[in-house]
Amino acid sequence: MCGIVGYVGSHQAAPILLDGLAKLEYRGYDSAGIAVFDGKKITSHKALGKLKVLNEETHGGATLPGTCGIGHTRWATHGVPSVRNAHPHFNSDETIAVVHNGIIENYIKLRKMLEGKGYQFQSDTDTEVVAHLLDYYYDGNALHTIAKVIERVEGSYALGIMFSDHPHHVFAARKDSPLIIGAGENGENFIASDVPAILKYTRNVYYMDSLEIASLSPDHVRFYNIDLEEVPKELKTIEWDLSAAEKGGYDYFMLKEIYEQPKAIRDCMSPRIRDGKVAIEELGMTDEEIRRIDRIYMIGCGTAYHTGVMAKYIFEDLARIPVEVDLASEFRYRNPICNAGTLVVVISQSGETADTLAALRLAKDHGLKTLGIVNAVGSSIAREADHVIYTYAGPEIAVASTKAYSTQLIAHYLLALKFGYVRGMVSDEQMGDMVRQMEELPAQIDLLLQSKEKIQKFANRYLAAKDVFFLGRGQDYATALEGSLKLKEISYIFSDAYAAGELKHGPISLIEEGTLVVALLTQDELVPKMVSNMQEVISRGAFVMAVTNVDHPEVEKTAQYCLYIPKTCRYFTGSLGIIPLQLFAYYIAIGRGLDVDKPRNLAKSVTVE
Ligand code: G6P
Repeated sequence: MCGIVGYVGSHQAAPILLDGLAKLEYRGYDSAGIAVFDGKKITSHKALGKLKVLNEETHGGATLPGTCGIGHTRWATHGVPSVRNAHPHFNSDETIAVVHNGIIENYIKLRKMLEGKGYQFQSDTDTEVVAHLLDYYYDGNALHTIAKVIERVEGSYALGIMFSDHPHHVFAARKDSPLIIGAGENGENFIASDVPAILKYTRNVYYMDSLEIASLSPDHVRFYNIDLEEVPKELKTIEWDLSAAEKGGYDYFMLKEIYEQPKAIRDCMSPRIRDGKVAIEELGMTDEEIRRIDRIYMIGCGTAYHTGVMAKYIFEDLARIPVEVDLASEFRYRNPICNAGTLVVVISQSGETADTLAALRLAKDHGLKTLGIVNAVGSSIAREADHVIYTYAGPEIAVASTKAYSTQLIAHYLLALKFGYVRGMVSDEQMGDMVRQMEELPAQIDLLLQSKEKIQKFANRYLAAKDVFFLGRGQDYATALEGSLKLKEISYIFSDAYAAGELKHGPISLIEEGTLVVALLTQDELVPKMVSNMQEVISRGAFVMAVTNVDHPEVEKTAQYCLYIPKTCRYFTGSLGIIPLQLFAYYIAIGRGLDVDKPRNLAKSVTVE
């Protein structure tokens, strides 16, 4: 969601900005723009649509000479996608340029105030008030001016700012929206919304904290708090390679990431297994603390929320702890009932999702213990949660989450096993047995991935489907939710997931001749119930594709099409059941000629509410 890149150094800025923005395309955007300072004045260019347009119109950046600049990909919130609303935004005489990710919540009030003082607005955006406010407070001292503006604006922001009075300087400020600073080695420095934008140039980054301001010139980076006191900051090294964020021969990131799942799962699991038992050192909770937990809230958005739904079944069964699952956007406005034994688990790939971050802060305000299950190292949620388990999935670029989902499931399994063991619900023998089966998952997923042609063939029959229903009971219901989300987000086919027992309470009225129903039957004890549900929809004309394991011949007899998953422990079947559903969604979207990695209207990292 909105991407920011900034550069100051000795090279031409525009090509570096365009290249960096291309690496942030995955975040989702509808227009883009860059502004470059040539030593005398700031010039800019904006374009609607893909970066390709901006690239062509600026001849790869050649029409904007200068060694200092800021760039932006915009995902519209306030004002339609248009050149007028694209960033950068300026003050009236174009001596101050601003790019922004986030939402200025009090922008209407600020706009009225500024208009009352004669400021004229060119766009419908909330961002433009920042440009004029900077102008309003400008006293020749950039830091001073930015600090004043930050005191006035409410909401979330990552800002990149240039003043023509301050040659060879880029300024940055952030609150709640992500922004990193890249420290180059050869007299150049960068700002960026995410690491891939600058990894070609440097591995050394600073993570800015909320309400901090940064000043960058070719040879320095300095950080200040809101009182303009300089704050020391530790330089961190990015350990992964750019190749991890490139397609590496695959047509789409999504397919690459689907195929990376066995490795991602291994990377998440292996460091946490010792002598056949789960050992999560970084958890930082004593056995006594684990025993005292009497309620868990699982909080997330989208795919991350779905892993929370799955975790509820597993934690309640294995560790006998009551679990409540909530969407972060709901939890943040609730008045949760909690006590000293409550643990809040926030789940997030990016670690920057605005609602999830707000839910985490609410939990902390209530004095609750918090645990983040996070993929992006150094992200806001990872830094603010009391404890963190990193999922080590590597960079996930495709908007539709796959390997992050799979590793989040592993993190839940590890935690549930650990909690169950410490609380005396899981014996040594059970622990050993389940760990062994968990370790088999990567090879089993590899096997499933080999049947991709079969799934592609089946998907091709349903390219024109109008709506698809996903049914499951228990853990399979959680997988159904995720399978349905995958399909709708990238294929634009309407789909919904139901706990199969609810079928008769409404959804069955939507079943027509030929409606595709995907039924999940991986929970042995629930198979007979699911078979009845399949019969109910088939007798109303539905075509049923079942995902099950070979032990259930009755499923094969009933469903019109079966996909089989290998046998595993009942708690881990979701890790296998989701694989054919990811591939199914992928091939439907490919067959419909859609851009799988960047589905319309969606953003990878939703940093606004
Ligand atoms: C967006 C993405 C989803 C993701 C959700 C939560 O909607 O498109 O793929 O599941 O945000 O993101 P998070 O980074 O918090 O896991």
